[in-house]
Amino acid sequence: MADDDSIDIARDMIVRSSKISALTGAGISVDSGIPDFRSEGGLWERYDPHEYATYDSFIRDPSKFWTMGRELAKVLLKAKPNPAHFALATLEERGKLIGVITQNIDNLHQVAGNKRVIELHGNYQRAFCMSCNKEFYGDEIHRRVAEGEIPPICDSCGGVIKSRTILFGEPLPESAMSEAIEICRSTDLMLVIGTSLTVYPAAYLPQLAKNSGAKVILINLDGTNKDGVADVVLKGHASKILTRLV
Ligand code: APR
Repeated sequence: MADDDSIDIARDMIVRSSKISALTGAGISVDSGIPDFRSEGGLWERYDPHEYATYDSFIRDPSKFWTMGRELAKVLLKAKPNPAHFALATLEERGKLIGVITQNIDNLHQVAGNKRVIELHGNYQRAFCMSCNKEFYGDEIHRRVAEGEIPPICDSCGGVIKSRTILFGEPLPESAMSEAIEICRSTDLMLVIGTSLTVYPAAYLPQLAKNSGAKVILINLDGTNKDGVADVVLKGHASKILTRLV
């Protein structure tokens, strides 16, 4: 667990900062009951991402992704924000946070109250037909998938419906990445929370913020290979640490 001195140093940085940003990963939502990807028992232990979560694998066989999606939706649909999400919403309410950049697709930052949320990897609540581009809402698609329609088929043209979550090998939403870079350039303190920092380009962002003069606080259960970028590393549960900090 993070020692009291590091918590005090981190808290002091938060008090002194007025343009705080957050970069979050699956670890911030583990305390909401959503498994992360690379920890013990994580999603990629049960589903090989090369087979279930790449753009090419989806084109080859969309039922693989939707089989995994069916299991994930059960957890995502009932997940609620935890104290870590609410702590970031509090920082925004206090006018200290300029935005949350998230790799998560679970919508929990928005539910917790954050207004400026940049979703680098999309959101599970939206989907579209790959043939006619018709938009669909997550709830409808997840209901149809839960009832066994795998893959879900467009009712207008019979095309395959794809979630708006970004798969490996799929380009990130242009606007999301440019907005994230703009935040990294203007933030004075980046809180990096619950991410193994193994997937690019998201994993570049703490270094980019640092190069732009920001301080970096890393809050994570395990070590990452980017701990060296941080000014302060706080090991432990994000919900507990952020509650103490904020
Ligand atoms: N509090 C803080 N950190 C936690 C907690 C917790 N309660 N639980 C787990 N963690 C940490 C783990 O130690 C791990 O380092 O969160 C990190 C989660 O890492 P990953 O599972 O790799 O998730 P993430 O970094 O978000 O993955 C990035 O990879 O699979 C793709 O698109 C997917 O967005 C995802 C991206």
